Amino acid sequence: MFATSFQRFAYRNVAKPIFFRMDPEFVHDAVTMVGRILGFCPCLRRATKFFLAYGHPSLEQTILGMHFHNPVGLTAGFDYKALLTRILPAVGFGFGTVGTISNLPCEGNSRPRLGRLPLSRSLLVNKGFRNPGIAAVLSRHAQSRFAIPIGISIGKTNLPRPMTQAEAISDIVSSFRQVEASRASFQYYELNVSCPNLFGNVEFYSPGHLRELLSAVTSLQLTRPVFVKMPISEGDEDVSAMLDVIMGFRVKGVIFGNLQKDRKHPSFVPDEVVSADKGHFSGKPTELRSNELIALARRKCGSALVIIGSGGVFSAEDAYEKIRLGASLVQLATGMIFEGPQLIGEINRGLVRLLERDGYKSISDAVGTATR
Ligand SMILES: Cc1cc2nc3c(=O)[nH]c(=O)nc-3n(C[C@H](O)[C@H](O)[C@H](O)COP(=O)(O)O)c2cc1C
Repeated sequence: MFATSFQRFAYRNVAKPIFFRMDPEFVHDAVTMVGRILGFCPCLRRATKFFLAYGHPSLEQTILGMHFHNPVGLTAGFDYKALLTRILPAVGFGFGTVGTISNLPCEGNSRPRLGRLPLSRSLLVNKGFRNPGIAAVLSRHAQSRFAIPIGISIGKTNLPRPMTQAEAISDIVSSFRQVEASRASFQYYELNVSCPNLFGNVEFYSPGHLRELLSAVTSLQLTRPVFVKMPISEGDEDVSAMLDVIMGFRVKGVIFGNLQKDRKHPSFVPDEVVSADKGHFSGKPTELRSNELIALARRKCGSALVIIGSGGVFSAEDAYEKIRLGASLVQLATGMIFEGPQLIGEINRGLVRLLERDGYKSISDAVGTATR
């Protein structure tokens, strides 16, 4: 506990003030490089684990045949080149998603691609699927054996020209085919239909378009479970219609959700959002809508779909709220950037305390208890 308090203090008062004065993309690249080096060396991995990771039997779950040591995962977008898979368990994550990866490599949108809204506890994201492409990621991980469930997020290639729906579907299907044909041991898929930063006018929110996509993807007889990464920008009725479609296919779960598009959302500090560049927002401005949609999906689908909660998790209480609303697992990125890498262990330790307080023996006993 003392070590964690010290790490939190050091991050907040030393590392973060320095990081937050530097270009966000530069900091991200530097942190990724450090994480990659730590991951490669077994003794550095062990040291990282000693200082950061926390385990407890009540956090363990087996879901869709995958074993999770704890319910806290790295959300898509942080490790978009799939370089951090070795260090994630040592940092304390129970699982992690790489990507979003597309069929073809993509430079992403032009700079600035990242910004910070410190008062709103949010990041401005305008990356546009910057990623090395599926072939590069698969060849990097041809021999990898992961210590925790690692999933791969797949989305359409962000080409600088309009694509038809049919082209977008065959582009996405091509990525799935390549993963299936490879030896890479990713354990689950995220199908990202909800990136708001892409060029062109392809969309998969309307039931007809979503049905066409899921029909093409699931006809591949995939060997790993698929989770659909959902938007938080749509109204309840539209999300409900999307869930109706999803339940008609061999899709195992949904993730709520992606970035906040609504600059008028009350969770923003108005002066800060007014001067923000082009892009959409992570962190606290996503939390409320993510939670509402977790509850909606839980009420509508019961346990027919596994729900993963993503959006604004900055503490054990935030993670626990998502779990009690219906999420079996949670994901985060922005919380770690604002609070430091010890946050993962802090959340897990805090979850054990909250479970004990409420008389639950394990995470799975708490899932959905606030939505009954
Ligand atoms: C820098 C950044 C890049 C992101 N890129 C992706 C992405 O490529 N694919 C995706 O599904 N979500 C992406 N997201 C959204 C996150 O996965 C997540 O849904 C959202 O940020 C809410 O979680 P958070 O508040 O813990 O960051 C990105 C988020 C951030 C901050």
